[in-house]
Amino acid sequence: MALTVAHAPGKVILFGEHAVVYGRPAVAVPVLDVQATAVVEDALPGSGITIVAKNLLHTFNLFDAPRNDPLRTIVSATLSRLGVGMKADLKITVSSAIPVARGLGSGAAVSTAIARALGEHLGQWLTSRAVSDLVFETEKIHHGTPSGIDNTVVAFEKPVYFVKDKVMDVLWVGEPFQVVIGDTGVVSQTWVAVGDVRAAFEQDRERYEEIFDEIGTLAHMGRRAVEAGDVGAMGRLMDANQKLLQLIGVSSPELEGLIEAARQGGALGAKLSGAGRGGNMIAAVTPETASQVSMMLRLAGAQNVILTEVR
Ligand code: PMV
Repeated sequence: MALTVAHAPGKVILFGEHAVVYGRPAVAVPVLDVQATAVVEDALPGSGITIVAKNLLHTFNLFDAPRNDPLRTIVSATLSRLGVGMKADLKITVSSAIPVARGLGSGAAVSTAIARALGEHLGQWLTSRAVSDLVFETEKIHHGTPSGIDNTVVAFEKPVYFVKDKVMDVLWVGEPFQVVIGDTGVVSQTWVAVGDVRAAFEQDRERYEEIFDEIGTLAHMGRRAVEAGDVGAMGRLMDANQKLLQLIGVSSPELEGLIEAARQGGALGAKLSGAGRGGNMIAAVTPETASQVSMMLRLAGAQNVILTEVR
């Protein structure tokens, strides 16, 4: 029986999380070292659509899942985009090496892999833009009011400069550079952090608009640094971005501990990445400092450390 496999990477946000929800620019890059995988197979006639979620140790029929189940949503949205009825007989197996709820885009990656595998299996090529739009539907379930940056960077698999509903530029990286990613091990739901920032914003709009403007300026400068391959400038901008993320209340003692350890290990700069409160931090490093920074992060209690190259 025919079988199709597709993958999708994780992601980190280099600059601009949270402010991106309020229309400011952000820069995000794919993390190709961790991937989600979807396998689509023809199933026996009349068996319907079965989803095997390997990480969750859960197998279910598509229509037995709640309507707002993210896996049901991406499968239904993709099949209807492909013009294929829900009467198809398919087995869809998903697995992911991307830790869940740590700001690495695991939900977007799983959905992207499914959309791609379904498109290829059913003989239709879906553009990255089409996949990104489909995945955005599931991001609404995961995130509440997503900016759209996760689905964009994961579906395009390229560094992107992103302004919600306005700009999506794929970035040309002047010189490949390395980033170390350290996991606090603390689960953080994006919609909780985004909701708290929203509540604080409603209390003091003027101050928050100013902070978001400053973050937006850093993201704009970050874009230039990425294009120039200037990792030193990226580090300085990460430090400045982290100060502003602290001000809006999305850092945490665990994140601060890892950020400090990275700096002590010789990182050129460091910040949290994604929603914050837990999840991952990132540090700008050189090939000379990468292993020392990784070691310091482990010693400081990082649950997982990834060294990734951005190109
Ligand atoms: O999914 P995360 O944790 O990487 O967070 C996404 C980034 C936010 O700016 C906090 C939310 C959004 O929708 O852009």
